[in-house]
Amino acid sequence: MWTSADIPDQNGKNVIVTGANTGIGYETALALYLAGANVTLACRDQGKAEQAVARMKEQSGPGSLEIGVLDLADLDSVRLFAETYLRQHTQLDVLVNNAAVGTPPAAKTPQSWEYTFGVNFLGPFALTGRLYPLLEATRGSRVVTVTSFGYVVGAIDFDNLKSERDYDAVREYGQNKLADLMFTIELDRRVRAQGHQVTSIAAQPGANSTEITRHSTPEAVAAMKERFNGFMEPWQGALPSLYAAVSGDAKAGNLYEPHENGFKGYPAKADIQPVALDEAVAKKLWDVAEEATGIAFPA
Ligand SMILES: NC(=O)c1ccc[n+]([C@@H]2O[C@H](COP(=O)([O-])OP(=O)(O)OC[C@H]3O[C@@H](n4cnc5c(N)ncnc54)[C@H](OP(=O)(O)O)[C@@H]3O)[C@@H](O)[C@H]2O)c1
Repeated sequence: MWTSADIPDQNGKNVIVTGANTGIGYETALALYLAGANVTLACRDQGKAEQAVARMKEQSGPGSLEIGVLDLADLDSVRLFAETYLRQHTQLDVLVNNAAVGTPPAAKTPQSWEYTFGVNFLGPFALTGRLYPLLEATRGSRVVTVTSFGYVVGAIDFDNLKSERDYDAVREYGQNKLADLMFTIELDRRVRAQGHQVTSIAAQPGANSTEITRHSTPEAVAAMKERFNGFMEPWQGALPSLYAAVSGDAKAGNLYEPHENGFKGYPAKADIQPVALDEAVAKKLWDVAEEATGIAFPA
């Protein structure tokens, strides 16, 4: 059973956690701070990030905390965040692509993409791409991208990425958590093809009590809770991300998840389902993302 007590000393490591003001991102950032890392909370709301930092500092960790404003919906915000980070840091050991929206009302990003596709996939793609030179320059660096057990019901609908046809919140969530897992695996393939050293790993937290359900009805949340026989607390849901971020046993291209059917428990290697292993779809998705963001990597 792997827990946060197994995190090696992170002193001297630079880490970015997106969406670190609450839920699984908060617990991921906190555990790395308590292990000695310099952690940047990459959040869209400066006030919420400041409150999170204040709460973390109450525990007087040996690490240090920074805040960077990042709205993953907006590719200009991603560029500004990355430019600032690259100006101010000379290494990046771990990027945790944690932030996501659950099932929001229909909306578009400033660049006219369907909002969930923008926040949950295009934004993390652009962020990883812009930070990639620093990741590649940092020995032993990792990119951890957070997906969901819901990826198995996802499908990439290339004809509806701007909601050209219609919008279904649950469907978009599944699609984009699948996209996150395909991104992780495709990034690993491309890194190896280049002879680079960055490690790309996926994690999924299982079923946890967080704000991801903020747009769901109380009835829908109650039904989910019953289905999973209760939710885990976010500190436990953060363990697969933490394992992927720091464990010497975590391997590139793998997915780590709670050991009880992927819903509950402690980090274990998952069997990735065939839907996420379709190389043709992954390559097409990568091409779409490169064109949408204007960022081609790894190079
Ligand atoms: N909870 C679960 O049971 C569960 C299950 C499977 C997968 N996951 C995955 O776990 C990860 C963390 O989710 P969570 O459960 O901790 O959810 P959460 O409590 O809702 O936290 C989501 C985080 O993402 C941030 N975020 C949302 N939109 C953003 C944007 N446009 N730009 C930057 N940050 C943004 C939120 O910021 P604000 O607070 O400002 O909105 C918040 O910090 C997600 O990738 C999610 O898909 C969770």
